[in-house]
Formats: sequence, C-alpha cells, structure tokens
Amino acid sequence: MSASPLAIATIAGDGTGPEVTAEALKVLEAIAQLEGFDYSVEPLDWGGDRYLRTGEIIPAGGLELLRSKDAVFLGAIGHPDVPPGVLEKGLLLELRFKLDQYINLRPVKLLPGVETPLAGRGPDDIDFVVVRENTEDLYCGVGGFLKKGTPDEVAVQQAVYTRKGCERCIRWAFEYTRRRNSPKKTLTLVAKTNVLTFGHDLWWRTFQEVARDYPDVTTDYNHVDACCMWMVKDPQAYDVIVTTNMFGDIITDLAGILQGGMGVAAGGNLNPDPGGVSMFEPMGGSAPKYTGKNVINPIAAINAMAMLLEQSGQPQAAARIDRAVASVTGTKMKSQAAGRMGHGTSEIGDLVVAALSE
Ligand code: IPM
Ligand code: MN
Repeated sequence: MSASPLAIATIAGDGTGPEVTAEALKVLEAIAQLEGFDYSVEPLDWGGDRYLRTGEIIPAGGLELLRSKDAVFLGAIGHPDVPPGVLEKGLLLELRFKLDQYINLRPVKLLPGVETPLAGRGPDDIDFVVVRENTEDLYCGVGGFLKKGTPDEVAVQQAVYTRKGCERCIRWAFEYTRRRNSPKKTLTLVAKTNVLTFGHDLWWRTFQEVARDYPDVTTDYNHVDACCMWMVKDPQAYDVIVTTNMFGDIITDLAGILQGGMGVAAGGNLNPDPGGVSMFEPMGGSAPKYTGKNVINPIAAINAMAMLLEQSGQPQAAARIDRAVASVTGTKMKSQAAGRMGHGTSEIGDLVVAALSE
C-alpha cells in the first residue's frame, strides 16, 4: 500500500523563524529520502510582515487551507513593529482554537552534551513530558472591563473549564503514558485544587474517574507551586505531567530551561481526533536581533519536525532524527546558545543531515 504524500504547510513567520524552518525542511528532505516517504510543503507567508503590509493575519480561506493538510510547521511569530499580543492571539491562539488543537505536548529531555542549569544533573535525570490542555482556562478570552480607564475600573478575566475539555486531555495523557511505557509509567496531575475549588475540582474528579480505565498507570498529584519546586529539586521523579492551560504555559518554560533552553525545546499543538490537523513549533521566539546572521540554533526546529513526523505516521523517521540530533549535540556543538554553537545555523542543519546516515 503506498500512502499518500504527507502534506505539510509551513508558516516560517518572523525574525529567525525562516532560518530555523529552512533547517527543519533540510532535515525533512534528507529523512524522506532515507526512509522512502513522499511529502509536500506549502509555504505560507503569514506573520508580522504580511500583517503590516495587508492588515491580515490569517488570510481569507487560510483555515480551510490548513484543514486540507496533514500537519502545520510554525517557525516563529513576533515582530518588533507589531504590538505584543496581536500575532500571538491572531495567529497562534487562533489556530489552536479553530483547529481544536486541544493538546499541547512538550517533551522535556536533556540531550547529551547539552548544559542544564541544574548542578550535577545529566540526561538520565531529565526526561519527562508535559501534556498541557490547550483550548480552555484563562486562554479562552472570556472577560471584560467595567468603568474602563476610571479609578473605579474593574477587569474580569475568567478561567473556563469544561468536562469535555479536561476529560479529552486527561484521557489522551493516560493513553500517552501507557504508550510511552517508561519504567515509572506515572501520570501526575498538576493543578491547584486547594484554591481553585471549582475548576480544578472538575479536573481532579475527572482525573480520578478516567484513571479507573488505566489501572496499569500509576497516578500522582502535585499542586503547581510544589511542582515547580520538585521539577528543580527532583526532576527524575516525573514521567508524564498533565495540567491546565495556564499552569502548563508556566511550567513548560521552567521545564524548557532544565532541558537546555529555547535552542532545543520543541512542542506540538495536537488535534489527535480523526482528520485533526496538528501544528509543531520550536518554543523559542522570533529573536529579531539574530535575524539573518546564521547564528540562531535550529535544533529546536529540527526537534519540532521530528515530533511532526512522529505524530504523522513516521515514527521511525522521527526516531532517526532524534538519534542524529543527540549525536550532534553530544559531539559537535559547543553550546546551545545563539552565536556560541561553534557552527552556524545552516551548518548545524548539515551536521544533523550527515548524522542521519551514521
Ligand atoms: C506558548 C506561548 C504562547 C502561550 C503565547 C505566545 C501566546 O507562550 O506557546 O507557550 O502562552 O501559550
Ligand atoms: Mn509559553
């Protein structure tokens, strides 16, 4: 049976987004040849420049176009001339919501040769995954002002949680923990049940109920503040974490630094339902000051491409990229920081391609 080509849309975006996207595509081209699968890429010029030129963030028909693809690759968004929030809300959050990408998947793995700020810790200590709910909570945009701009101003920003929203995320996290099948095989719910006694009570009850379907998975619970402490003190205790959108946003930045920072951290916005379209991105921003200098680290983007392949029916290709990346970080790179890698952006891409055939 010959599968139809994997259809990918790329939004290279702003700043250094295009540079790291180019390296991810370079690795895709090489791995497709080695593993023998076909793909197509449709580059989209969405982002800050287009917005400044046309006033449009997602052009008419854009969502339909993405829905016709198998996956989306996003380089970076964020433009110095566009006020903060415009592109984040208008592009990233809009796509998460409209494509119902209800899982934000963030693997946190310290690769060989990569420095962590945690003293005395190595790759064996930092290897867990955060599953963040990606469509609800404080991100839903429900709220408003009363008496705006007056001394009596009131601002309301509502966190919204639904049974459907938390259950599908929690269930996916249990399935993922089972599939990952690490020796710990533990799913930890991270929330704040002692204070958020409505919304996180719903999460807690749903977690307990869904857990009954997964007797082989050990369950645990941490309040989010304690989780931040444990993540630094005892990161090897974690296997898979499932958490709410806002807390997930915060703890995945902490986790990202433990794994070596924005140069390596990648994430996926998944719609795992049949026909769902998922989007993969390096976690770093558009880093305008490094634009066009061939100094930005493309490893996160290459990791994001591996995640895309893993979630798109090419797990072997993904694993092969993972091994190549680990070989490059472990033996070829001086640092993961922009400008201090010992190589340029495009040379790192070349090194990963070469390592695919090691
Ligand atoms: C992330 C980012 C986004 C978020 C921003 C850019 C809206 O920080 O993907 O974690 O808060 O989710
Ligand atoms: Mn974030």
